[in-house]
Amino acid sequence: MDNGPDAIGIFDSGIGGLTVLRRIVERLPGESTVYLGDTARVPYGTKSPDTVRRYAMACARVLLGRGIKMLVVACNTASAHAVEYLQDALDVPVVGVVEPGARAAASCTVSGRIGVIGTRGTVASGVYERAIAAIRPDTRVWSRACPLLVPLAEEGWVRGPVPEQVVAAYLSELLEHEIDTLVLGCTHYPLLSDIIRAAVGPSVQIVDSAEATAAVVEEVLVAAGIASSGGNAQRTYLVSDAPESFAKTGREFLNHGIDDVEWVDF
Ligand code: DGL
Repeated sequence: MDNGPDAIGIFDSGIGGLTVLRRIVERLPGESTVYLGDTARVPYGTKSPDTVRRYAMACARVLLGRGIKMLVVACNTASAHAVEYLQDALDVPVVGVVEPGARAAASCTVSGRIGVIGTRGTVASGVYERAIAAIRPDTRVWSRACPLLVPLAEEGWVRGPVPEQVVAAYLSELLEHEIDTLVLGCTHYPLLSDIIRAAVGPSVQIVDSAEATAAVVEEVLVAAGIASSGGNAQRTYLVSDAPESFAKTGREFLNHGIDDVEWVDF
């Protein structure tokens, strides 16, 4: 199946990037999308930057093979390690999730005290600190890796005492720094946003980089003159392993069923 040169290509290490796809589809319903979940290699959050770059390029090649007009790196870890590399190497516009999330955080914060949560890889890279400082040098950023939140979200264990305690333990140190803004720097964390909201209280603004990314995707499409003029938008789903389980869990991320998940070998 080929969506033609009109589709937006989106990839993630697995299922989590569907939170980004969802925001893109909400904002740009007339755009066709091809989503690739690299379910054979997930998680990226524990892998080295070189390995993540290699995986990211392999995902990009699969999507370019489908004739996409732009590429969205929906994975924060891949955005941290590979966006510039892909931008240099590819002929289509490439948008990651870090820069839009950083922009949104910089414009949300009043006190200039920002918290970021993400995978170990994203936090170790310091990418959010750099991106936020480049926009608002007067801010301070504290980051915390929250490795248990990905498996909890994958299991659909997003309510009740267990995720509440895990989230509270991860966030306690950030809250001691009196942050007024918290960036959800991982594709999976929006699924835990009710618990995260309850843990941080009403005075902390939560930045979901998925929403901010969809806005940037629209800006880039318009600026490049490649926005769809409408028509019958198609949704294509590709995975490198276990299409049935992707379709089942994907419902949680998208709030609707997914038909026809195609397995691709790469
Ligand atoms: N998609 C990853 C991210 O946003 C989380 C899952 C993983 O570690 O691969 O960083």
